[in-house]
Amino acid sequence: MTCPFLPTRRIGDRPVQELVVHAMRTADGAVVELEEIGTFPIAGNRAVALGLLNDDSGKSTAGAKRNPLDAVRSDLRRAFAPRKAALQARRVIDRHVHRLRSSDDPESIELVSKLFTPIAAEALLVSLGLEDEALEHETVTFFEQMQAEAMKSLLSPGLLVLARRIVTSSCVTPGGFLENQQLIRGRSTDDLSELVVLLLMAGVEPVANLTAMTAHTLLSEPRYPTPQAAYDHVVREDSPIYPGLYRTSKQALSINGHDHPAGTLFFVPVVATDVSERHFTFGAGPRRCVGQALAEKLVLGTVHALVQMGVDRVRECSWRAQLPRGLRSLHCSFADGR
Ligand code: HEM
Repeated sequence: MTCPFLPTRRIGDRPVQELVVHAMRTADGAVVELEEIGTFPIAGNRAVALGLLNDDSGKSTAGAKRNPLDAVRSDLRRAFAPRKAALQARRVIDRHVHRLRSSDDPESIELVSKLFTPIAAEALLVSLGLEDEALEHETVTFFEQMQAEAMKSLLSPGLLVLARRIVTSSCVTPGGFLENQQLIRGRSTDDLSELVVLLLMAGVEPVANLTAMTAHTLLSEPRYPTPQAAYDHVVREDSPIYPGLYRTSKQALSINGHDHPAGTLFFVPVVATDVSERHFTFGAGPRRCVGQALAEKLVLGTVHALVQMGVDRVRECSWRAQLPRGLRSLHCSFADGR
């Protein structure tokens, strides 16, 4: 059975995921074919989705190579623990908001590049134990360029060069995650660089994007009048960043009359499982997001700071036509000046 809806490129700047989400609600267990995500059976049923996410061997596909996160998962969870995340987020947001307040161009702030990406990049590097302004700046520039030029094909090689410079920086904080991985765990520069590439991909654009989507919802949808309400809406009902996760089944599954042998690659939608309050925006099971606490603090803290600065409307914005779904730019105006 094939999903009866439009390929994503034909929906222009309407939210790409409207259609994906619709498919998830209707095509439970059936095979869905969608440009950009491929052709997969959908695990849209909550029990099946949770089963696949919990029963996890650490690989998303049968033939996938070793997962570099396996060796560092518990160290990462400690480095990004909620209390530490809250402190780091506060510090980084305060610094950037202060900088923005004292900049002298109040009328034309493009928030994704001026605030959201810099906050996400710096918070990630600081949490890893790196305080190096030049490298922070380089990281932000890299992601800005990527946004502007859609240079996804250069992503991996470019990021690997950047990650190597991060790992070998002389400004690594004593006792921080990076130094501990080098000195105590004895990880090589190559292994750590590979890990930092993954973390940069997982932790910069998604945070910037979720911040932009939350701010946009707050300013354009009166039904969600507070940062928390806007955030909850985006996380539960929209499909920020990832349309879904991929998992290979270990046993044969029959879903809504569709039979799937063991070893089938399933698509688990991040939102719109059959129970409306359940979502997988940050995953579930052993591989759930290690950066969730940091991401939540950064997004809510940044949007809250914008409200305090008197942000009152979206002047202009542009949505990405392709995945990952989200805002490429967001220009806002401020009622009381800054
Ligand atoms: C809004 C921001 C974010 C979203 C929506 C998000 C979402 C997710 C999701 C859905 C997964 C599960 C992937 C899977 O099961 O295949 C995941 C895993 C992960 N996330 Fe995030 N993430 C965000 C921010 C971050 C940040 C800031 C970090 C920084 C450390 C991070 C690091 C990771 C890592 C390392 C994993 C893999 C965990 C594992 O395999 O054990 N994420 N994230």
